[in-house]
Amino acid sequence: MAHFKKATSVHDWLNQRLALDTVTRVLATEYWIPKNINFLWAMGMILAVTFGLLIVSGIFLLMYYKPDVNLAFDSVNYLIMTEVGYGWLWRHIHGVAASVVFLLIYIHMFTAIYYGSYKKGREMIWITGMILFVAFSAEAFSGYMLPWGQMSYWAGMVITNLFSLGSLELNGIVEWVRGDYIPGDAFLTRFFMLHVLLLPLVIIGVIVLHFATLRIPHVNNQDGEEIDFDAEAAKYLAGDTKNSKVMRFQSDFLSKDVLVLGFFMIFFFYLVFYHFNFAMDPVNFDPANGLSTPAHIYPEWYFLWSYEILRPFGKDAGLIAFGFAQVIFMLLPFLDRSDNVAPANRRGLFGLWFWSLLIVCIALTILGKLPPEGIYNTLGAIFAWSFIGLWVALPVITMMEKKSGGNK
Ligand code: HEM
Repeated sequence: MAHFKKATSVHDWLNQRLALDTVTRVLATEYWIPKNINFLWAMGMILAVTFGLLIVSGIFLLMYYKPDVNLAFDSVNYLIMTEVGYGWLWRHIHGVAASVVFLLIYIHMFTAIYYGSYKKGREMIWITGMILFVAFSAEAFSGYMLPWGQMSYWAGMVITNLFSLGSLELNGIVEWVRGDYIPGDAFLTRFFMLHVLLLPLVIIGVIVLHFATLRIPHVNNQDGEEIDFDAEAAKYLAGDTKNSKVMRFQSDFLSKDVLVLGFFMIFFFYLVFYHFNFAMDPVNFDPANGLSTPAHIYPEWYFLWSYEILRPFGKDAGLIAFGFAQVIFMLLPFLDRSDNVAPANRRGLFGLWFWSLLIVCIALTILGKLPPEGIYNTLGAIFAWSFIGLWVALPVITMMEKKSGGNK
């Protein structure tokens, strides 16, 4: 057994048993972050805080929510919104955070794409990030079922129908997923379980893994410079903090994060108090009715781009295109054949590729909300094909970049 001395303080007592000082050093005070980064590197921490807000507000909602098809709608729209003290506030925080978390994820993802933060050595950061994206998508979808409004019901119907795999008509799988022929009580209670227990557990686990994947490669920087972290850290510790290219996670980097977090909080609570409706579909304020289909069924804004990729094609081709959109981002570290870690605007054709992808995704998002008729159909098809074309072109243009020795 290790040798324990008489402790001189509570900290010393704990330190002898839990190696608190070593843990703090490894995870915080000697966890080195490049100095050459901007506010976009705060998104990860803001995402973690927003997830925290979702958990806390979710716990309060859970105290009054009723997972029963006869009670769910009223427990949200009457009990929580009008009778429970500050119930409306917790619901608005939860709804706005659920929507804003996707805005943050997209900014975080496109930042990583722009700066090449998914390349050699950082692939696992990207892959765990994409698993988080999938897990958050499932979390958002299952949460959307819970108020049991018209959109909950019909979006649940449409999405679970996808499990029949088009012309294969595997209706048995759809029924197995729903626990019934149509969305009903078994459907609601299993999505409730997923939303409040299984998926949050998975998300917490993957966030821990995502943080762990950052520890060895360290975060990237604005120039994609390959920093010798050991040498720069030694310089910092020797007192030459000015010339060192790195800073401590705690408190140097954290203090910057907290500043950006402060601005984010102003924006967030502005939405919570004045514009919470942007996160709520008006159709979902009508109770679920299996006998009346809404005129237009569309998902929340953050799923619109992939929904729009599904729409222009026929039954099977649409499903394949949709599947393609779901997995293709995951493969990015392997489809980009160039080793050049640099901002997109210094990578020639890749820069054009990056901005085209961003514009195509925004266009698909806008079109996904519009009715599938006339010119919108044509535009939808053009942008869906452009999305596919861009991903097919990626290995080619990055191979060309590699051959030309990169343009860093
Ligand atoms: C709730 C979800 C997430 C949390 C809490 C989170 C957290 C973080 C944190 C704290 C960092 C380090 C600081 C920073 O660069 O912001 C980071 C970096 C990173 N994350 Fe995430 N992240 C999440 C989702 C994602 C997603 C969806 C992706 C995309 C696939 C992703 C990819 C990355 C990459 C590539 C880096 C490295 C950035 C660099 O080296 O500069 N993350 N994440």
